[in-house]
Amino acid sequence: MESIRDIKKHYNFFERDASNLMRVSPVMAKYADEFPHKFYEHIKDFEETSRFLKNEEVIKRHQKALKEWLLNLFSGDYEDSYLTSLEKVGFAHVKIGLRPHYVNASMNFVRIFCLDVLRKEFKDEAERRELANSLEKIIDINLDVIISSFVEGELKNYFISHKIESKMIQVAKRFVHGLNLVLLVGLMLMSVMVMGLFVYDVSHIFDGNIEKGLLSTLGSLLVLWVVIELMNTEIKHLKGGKFAIKVFISVALVSVIRKILITTLKGEAIEAQLALIAAVAVLGVVYWLIARIEA
Ligand code: HEM
Repeated sequence: MESIRDIKKHYNFFERDASNLMRVSPVMAKYADEFPHKFYEHIKDFEETSRFLKNEEVIKRHQKALKEWLLNLFSGDYEDSYLTSLEKVGFAHVKIGLRPHYVNASMNFVRIFCLDVLRKEFKDEAERRELANSLEKIIDINLDVIISSFVEGELKNYFISHKIESKMIQVAKRFVHGLNLVLLVGLMLMSVMVMGLFVYDVSHIFDGNIEKGLLSTLGSLLVLWVVIELMNTEIKHLKGGKFAIKVFISVALVSVIRKILITTLKGEAIEAQLALIAAVAVLGVVYWLIARIEA
């Protein structure tokens, strides 16, 4: 918000304007009791009035505040404390969620009300024009500060929620990173276990069961290959790479191939073997489609 000095400069508000308004002060004081009632007659038809001014207590408080605000408009003292009081008025309306449009519309009534008082009380045309000029300036300054407070109040709300949001995102990101590391450790343990399986399968060869040994070793090597593939994908993902869905299809593919190797050894029913071959064909087509899309 600009300083009160700058605001007065931008509106060409000089000492003369302050003393003009002070001159109007005792005259306006005669209308100070009437003002809040006339103001309410004007705003009673606004769609939002009953939502904000919902009971007698709030209305009384607002009418008292309005009267004081009107008298301050002509106090002749327009320094820092005046600017602060106007910002407070703006924030009070931001707090209740009133749209600035309604303050603009009711300020139009204030302008007409005050000009009417000048017309009634100051008969000299030149003097009235001079006073009206100063009145217009102070009303515009009020409108400027009150409406600017609306914008500042809304920005404040935005930035508070923005701050909370980015903090939450940061925490969630760290949590996900932690989970990814746990996954990587799990995969490393898994690869150690698959190596154990590999050694176990190789031992069948030395036991004299060469066919079983070779086929199950091939199966465990395929599993090891898949675990390595999963680890590589996870490492790439941790380094910021995109999610590779292809690797999950290859896990399924390798599991079914391994199962086929085992079922041929056990000499299971041909239907079971055909079902596994069909599963490999479907998974192969899906893998190929994904690879094509990714390319
Ligand atoms: C020229 C236009 C207006 C002026 C100068 C004005 C002035 C004020 C002032 C001086 C306050 C007290 C601020 C404080 O707590 O320090 C206030 C509060 C308030 N205003 Fe206005 N007002 C205007 C328009 C409106 C309109 C159009 C509505 C509703 C339709 C409204 C509803 C309220 C309400 C609900 C409060 C809070 C009352 C409370 O709970 O104490 N105002 N206003």
